Amino acid sequence: MLRKFIKLALLSSLRHNPTDVVNIYDTFSDLMNITTGGKLLNFGYWDKGVSNPFDAQIKLTKLLGELGRFSNAKNILDLGSGYSVPALTWLHSYPTAKIYCINLSLNQIIEGKAISDQNQFLENASSKLESIESIKDRLFHINSTSTFLAHKNGTMDRIVALESAQHFSPFVEFVREAWRILKHDGMFVIAIPVLVNKPPGNLIPLYELRKLGILNITWASQHYKIEFIEAMIKENGFKIDEVVCIGSNVYQPLANYYNTNRINLRKMILNHYPNFLEIVLYRSISKMKTASERGIIDYALFKAVKK
Ligand SMILES: C[S@@+](CC[C@H](N)C(=O)[O-])C[C@H]1O[C@@H](n2cnc3c(N)ncnc32)[C@H](O)[C@@H]1O
Repeated sequence: MLRKFIKLALLSSLRHNPTDVVNIYDTFSDLMNITTGGKLLNFGYWDKGVSNPFDAQIKLTKLLGELGRFSNAKNILDLGSGYSVPALTWLHSYPTAKIYCINLSLNQIIEGKAISDQNQFLENASSKLESIESIKDRLFHINSTSTFLAHKNGTMDRIVALESAQHFSPFVEFVREAWRILKHDGMFVIAIPVLVNKPPGNLIPLYELRKLGILNITWASQHYKIEFIEAMIKENGFKIDEVVCIGSNVYQPLANYYNTNRINLRKMILNHYPNFLEIVLYRSISKMKTASERGIIDYALFKAVKK
């Protein structure tokens, strides 16, 4: 397991190959499910009243729906849809919307479909949603990469990437596809971990290794700078309406939660995974907290409109 972890993590951070990303998720997404108690795969938005990862994840999902004004949308494309739980949350909040879930991981698509076929999605009873009307005509699952899509031009009202675009490469292809598929005036919303204050030049990998330490390996994806994302969006036919940085509501509270509950979480993790993996997880969560406090990483929400 140790060798498999190191191999997957190193390959995915050095080679940036989509297959490695899928392998990482297929091998380790259970770790996220064990620690959060649900089937969402994002870090969550922790504000007042949120005391556990699951509620924070639902809060982030809803925040993105509000930011992207999903209440006015008929067709929404969710790129990097995880187990479709964000889509189910939005379908519940926006009863006239249809959502198309795109995921590179076939396993997640199959499991996401099974979860939505049961028409209920939460193991956490307090947050269980009522069943969703006409779910079969409103939720669609597609196994595809987000950088090359089969959707027709100008067909979507919204395109959303909830903590998934850090995996999309080349990033520009994802932005171009979003532009092509959105209707005129359609909205593009992205929630993404970002690097800030990253120096220009070709020494980025060394810089990242020094500053991010173990996080560089466990954050198994591209490390995009916030300015790079802004430029990509603006240069490819969008007007940016809003950029909100919410890192202090993401990394610090998540790390504090893990520290406070580590004994119990550790026990649950050790039922499924070896000891070293819990240590790697603990260290990377702590490292994320420090990197966020030092202003090295942030978590950005972008809202842009197709011009
Ligand atoms: C951090 S998870 C977030 C999942 C979901 N949005 C959520 O919040 O639960 C990132 C997702 O992106 C998917 N993914 C990674 N690379 C992708 C690609 N090139 N195209 C489509 N999906 C991709 C992964 O399989 C995973 O489901």
